[in-house]
Formats: sequence, C-alpha cells, structure tokens
Amino acid sequence: MKTRGLIDIAELSTAEIDAMMDVAQDIVDHPENYSEKCKGKKLATLFYEASTRTRLSFESAMLDLGGSVIGFSDAQSSSVSKGESVADTARTIECFADIAAMRHPKEGAPLVAQMHVDIPIINAGDGGHNHPTQTLTDLFTIRREIGHLDNLVIGCCGDLKFGRTVHSLVTAMSRYPGVRFVFVSPEELRIPEHVRSEVLDAHNIPYVETTSLEDVMPELDILYMTRVQRERFFNEADYLRLRDSYILTPEKLKMAKSDMRVLHPLPRVNEISVAVDDDPRAAYFRQVRNGKFIRMALILKLLAANNA
Ligand code: CP
Repeated sequence: MKTRGLIDIAELSTAEIDAMMDVAQDIVDHPENYSEKCKGKKLATLFYEASTRTRLSFESAMLDLGGSVIGFSDAQSSSVSKGESVADTARTIECFADIAAMRHPKEGAPLVAQMHVDIPIINAGDGGHNHPTQTLTDLFTIRREIGHLDNLVIGCCGDLKFGRTVHSLVTAMSRYPGVRFVFVSPEELRIPEHVRSEVLDAHNIPYVETTSLEDVMPELDILYMTRVQRERFFNEADYLRLRDSYILTPEKLKMAKSDMRVLHPLPRVNEISVAVDDDPRAAYFRQVRNGKFIRMALILKLLAANNA
C-alpha cells in the first residue's frame, strides 16, 4: 500500500478526524500514557518558509511522544540554497527520519515530496493552498471551547483569498450538519471561487459574504480572524491599503454573543487589538496549545498506519 501522509484535510474522513480529536483529548487528560509512544522514532521538520507555532508544536509533539527531531527552519541553511529539488531533499530526509512535516511557499510541494518517498509527509502549509494541521487544531479548539462542531455560525474575517487556513477550515467544517458561514472581507480578498463552487455550493452549505464585521457580529458563534498576508501580495501598495481593513477591539466585541469564541491561526499583526486578549472569549492562545496535542495524535496515527 502507498504510504499515506496528510497533504489536504479532505483526505481525512469525518470519523478519522473525530477519532483523532478523541486521542488528542486523551493526551490532554493522560499525557503520561503517551510519553514513550514514539521512542526510537524521528520526525524531520522541513520548513522552507517562516513559522513559529507549526514548527515548534510539531517538534514539541514528537518530543512529548518520546521521539526525536531533526530538520531545518531556514531553507537557506540547507542544500536547497544550492538548487536541490524538493524531491531530492525528501529522498535524503527519508534516509534519516520516520515521518516529516514540510512547509513550503509553493502550492503542491509537500505532495511532490510524498510522491517520492515512503515515509509519511505532513503538509505544514503550502503557499495559499492548504494547512491541514492548523485545521485539525481549529476543529479541536472549537470542540473543546463550545462542546460540538455542528449547528454553528462561523464568521471568517480578513484575508479570505490568500488565507490557506480559512480554505481548509471551510472544507472541514462543511461536513458537520447545520453549519453556516459568514465571510467578511474586502472585495479584493473574497473567498476564492473554487472554495465557493467545489466546497460550499457542491454541498449546499449556506453562506453569505459581506464587507461589514459589525453588521454580522451578533449572529456569530465563532469569529475566525485572519491576517492580511503580506508575503502573498504582488503589490506592496495593495497590501498597505488593505492590511487594516478589520481590527477587532473590545468595543466591537460588545456586539458579540457572550459565549462566542474568537479564533486566529496567528501570527496576528493589527487585526486583533491586544486589549481583546483578556476577554474570556479570546481563544487564540488556547488554540496554539491545542495544536501540540492534535499533532501528537496525528503523528501517532500516521506512524501506526504506515507501519501496519
Ligand atoms: N498558524 C501558523 O501556521 O503559525 P506559524 O506560521 O507561526 O507556524
């Protein structure tokens, strides 16, 4: 059987996602039961693009499972700087590691890596395309914060065009019954047509698009804020014009439900005022913490599946 990593959240069934969240919760409750599960195993982190949370949570996840970690956090410090291809780097890493997490600015790079090796490759974010482990983190956070994933109104605000975390989140949350989306963005940063046609329209998921966060705030169960992604703009002037389109403040939060939750994949720039951080509805740093537990569950699943 072909080795299976995780390139796109759509590869996972709802049952698989739910089972992984059960494991992650068990890790939260009984970490001592997992501290040697990956003894003797190595994770490689291949980060061709900047990261704080994803790389460090993958590394913490493997260390907390009793395994070890190798890799690079800056492609310029590897032989990529001499022109080595993704395929050759992946084949090299396969000689040393049992599983790898790859972030790359080009869409499809982790898939190319997976096609050339027999160890599982995890997509840790590829360009504006996909970020499946952020989505697992988001789902696990919603489940822990709200208690369920169905019958929710989810607002996604900011850069919905380049925000790969939003694309993956919409794909994953569309499986749960009674979910409705509210997309808040400037006209230039609307949710892409392919997400609307291939995910939302294809599954008859209700959604609205608006430019006003204030108008929709009272109806939201989740507000998923995103950063305007400077690194994906061709034109600096456009970035400067759009970057502060939405800034969440305590004043605006007064219009929200008392049990709404604010999520953000982070890093943030200006889009959430630091004055919001002390509001109990601000869940984004708890979201970061959850990322380690769900990545532990994913590493266990992929190593077990590919060693079976
Ligand atoms: N959420 C996220 O992907 O953060 P990093 O870019 O810091 O990994």
